Amino acid sequence: MSKPDTFRLYLDRAKDQLEFGRKAQDKEEYAEAKRHYVLAAQWLTRAANDAPKGLRAQHLQRAKQTLARAEVMAAKAEAQRRAARQPVASSDDAKPAWLVEKKPDATFDDVAGLEDVKEQIRLKFILPFEHQDKAAYYGIGSGGGILLYGPPGTGKTLIAKATAGELDADFFVVKASDVMSQWVGKAEGNVHLLFDAARACDRAVIFIDEIEALLPKRRGNLSTVMKRVVPQFLAEMDGFGGRASNVLFIGATNEPWAMDLAVLRPGRFDAKIYVPLPDQETRRRILEIHLKNRPLADDVDLDALAARMEGYSGADVAAVCQRASQRAFKEAIAEDDLPPIGWDDFEAALAEIKPSVDAKNLKRYEEYAAR
Ligand SMILES: Nc1ncnc2c1ncn2[C@@H]1O[C@H](COP(=O)(O)OP(=O)(O)OP(=O)(O)O)[C@@H](O)[C@H]1O
Ligand SMILES: [Mg+2]
Repeated sequence: MSKPDTFRLYLDRAKDQLEFGRKAQDKEEYAEAKRHYVLAAQWLTRAANDAPKGLRAQHLQRAKQTLARAEVMAAKAEAQRRAARQPVASSDDAKPAWLVEKKPDATFDDVAGLEDVKEQIRLKFILPFEHQDKAAYYGIGSGGGILLYGPPGTGKTLIAKATAGELDADFFVVKASDVMSQWVGKAEGNVHLLFDAARACDRAVIFIDEIEALLPKRRGNLSTVMKRVVPQFLAEMDGFGGRASNVLFIGATNEPWAMDLAVLRPGRFDAKIYVPLPDQETRRRILEIHLKNRPLADDVDLDALAARMEGYSGADVAAVCQRASQRAFKEAIAEDDLPPIGWDDFEAALAEIKPSVDAKNLKRYEEYAAR
């Protein structure tokens, strides 16, 4: 390329960068603006070197002015960073670990059965928000706690998430084991930050999994960390006591008998609900939910399939659907075809996947629930 050509080319590039810089500056994205102005200055310098004699000094001058502008942007960017540092640091600490999902899109329709749980949640949280004057008239508060207990895989986590979806609420998840492992050293401070972060939302659902570990029956052999965390936790829960609140907390446990029953009182967990294995009708509904968007053969009778799964948890039923689908999928690849998921696929899946909750354990839950 001849000099006049490169001169024009470099000028064009400089012009582009100046344009980007100006746009970033308008949006107050100063660090970005600085970057573009520096690049513009570099192109202007090259253009100056290839410029026709009379124009050289003029372009060098422009390059220097552009660089000066870049420096102004750099100063602004630094001021911006400093101003942002305070709140950013604390919210960085407080949020990401727990705010699992902003407003999950699951709803109660995605949860089969569990009508009791849904009803309690409607009464404690959804209706008081929708009918605020009537709630006030009858002295009905909102928020508070619900404790879910039962065997694994029965939809406790799912319903907590769907509750947040129904309420258009932010969803926080805490596992007792996280408190003990990740948070060691600042665990009780973090418990406080968690509740604060939830309170700062319009509406929030805090889901506390393995809650028996946070609120154990026997305090004698607690670790040093837990000796500080447990009282902190109780104090935070008491902070909600009876008042209207924008926070619903849902605790879940597979070991209700290991829990401190002192938490089961109004203001802490005022409802304690058994989440049993799904019955025939619920299993059928779980099948529908999990097969909704999958191609089913005509020979698949969902009632008969549900009947074959007595003793299966919701998670087991979901696993059977997954397994049967995989089998059809593999066949589709092997035969270069698109066969629907058939009864034989479910038969094969049932042969592989057995109920995950054994009879002895189940009896223990049922006895506990009957008390
Ligand atoms: N009632 C249900 N309706 C629809 N799907 C369900 C239901 N119960 C369980 N499932 C399926 O099983 C999966 C596991 O359920 P989930 O994690 O909610 O169980 P859990 O009760 O929290 O178990 P754990 O006690 O082991 O934590 C869900 O993601 C869902 O696919
Ligand atoms: Mg769970």
